Amino acid sequence: MQRQHVLITGASSGMGRVSALFLADKGFHIYAASRTPERLEGLHPHIVPLRLDITDPDSVAATIDAIPQIEILINNAGYGLVSSVEELEEAQMYAQFEVNLFGLLRVSRAVIPGMRAQKRGVIINISSFLGKIGLPLLTLYNASKYAVEGVTDSLRYELHDFNIRVHSILPGFFDTNFARDNLVVNEKSFYENSPYRKFAEELAPRIVHQINHGNDPLWVAETIYKIIEDPHSPARITAGEKARKFIPMRRELSDEDFERRVREYYNLG
Ligand SMILES: NC(=O)c1ccc[n+]([C@@H]2O[C@H](COP(=O)([O-])OP(=O)(O)OC[C@H]3O[C@@H](n4cnc5c(N)ncnc54)[C@H](OP(=O)(O)O)[C@@H]3O)[C@@H](O)[C@H]2O)c1
Repeated sequence: MQRQHVLITGASSGMGRVSALFLADKGFHIYAASRTPERLEGLHPHIVPLRLDITDPDSVAATIDAIPQIEILINNAGYGLVSSVEELEEAQMYAQFEVNLFGLLRVSRAVIPGMRAQKRGVIINISSFLGKIGLPLLTLYNASKYAVEGVTDSLRYELHDFNIRVHSILPGFFDTNFARDNLVVNEKSFYENSPYRKFAEELAPRIVHQINHGNDPLWVAETIYKIIEDPHSPARITAGEKARKFIPMRRELSDEDFERRVREYYNLG
């Protein structure tokens, strides 16, 4: 069988890196895109590190133009902004969507013409179980992942006739570098006199702890592989314990009952 080509964004760390290695071992040819491709040098004979900044249209165009063929796109790059809405800086607000939503759209838009021409493709968006749940101080992050869910649902219609499948994975908390390197904190929400201090004091450390003690990112890599292999995969798939706990609850309960359960679980008052 011919080797299929996979482009993974944010591949230098965490789920992206683990998935690159897992899929390379399964026989795929991996284009591992990162702002720091040096971190991927020599990782595997079937992993080609590429420099890509998904927030820069020129970087996206140059990188995608240089790749002859892509059958599978894994939109994985993302970070989390921790701030109350009231205390947000204007630039922080836009930056969160620039990476998590517009970056994902930018790379997808660059890849879709090739997939359409070859009449096949799979796009997998790494969303989050927080793409279906609201939480204080994570409004912008969660909203960006809600938006990713909307993109997935709409693109499925647009690309269906071209034999391009679109899916999203909703991970729970996973032990990656996310809490260590990729949570951007607005200090104002952590000041002594912040009206939102109680969330900074109690919720934020608890979430950091849950991420750092989360599941093995291999779970996400295996989920990606299953989606690629099974053309009848569902539109969205959960991965990890927290997603398996909250997403079915979200489907079954009313908005108000679900909110009550989240309040109780995170002691939000
Ligand atoms: N860990 C969790 O608990 C969890 C839960 C649900 C969803 N997720 C999602 O899973 C995806 C992967 O995260 P991870 O947990 O594997 O974390 P990670 O180890 O911190 O990796 C995140 C990757 O995203 C890229 N990235 C971060 N900030 C970026 C920016 N400003 N511009 C462009 N790229 C940026 C980085 O890519 P380069 O440095 O290589 O360019 C990095 O490799 C993210 O979309 C995240 O939202 C994570």
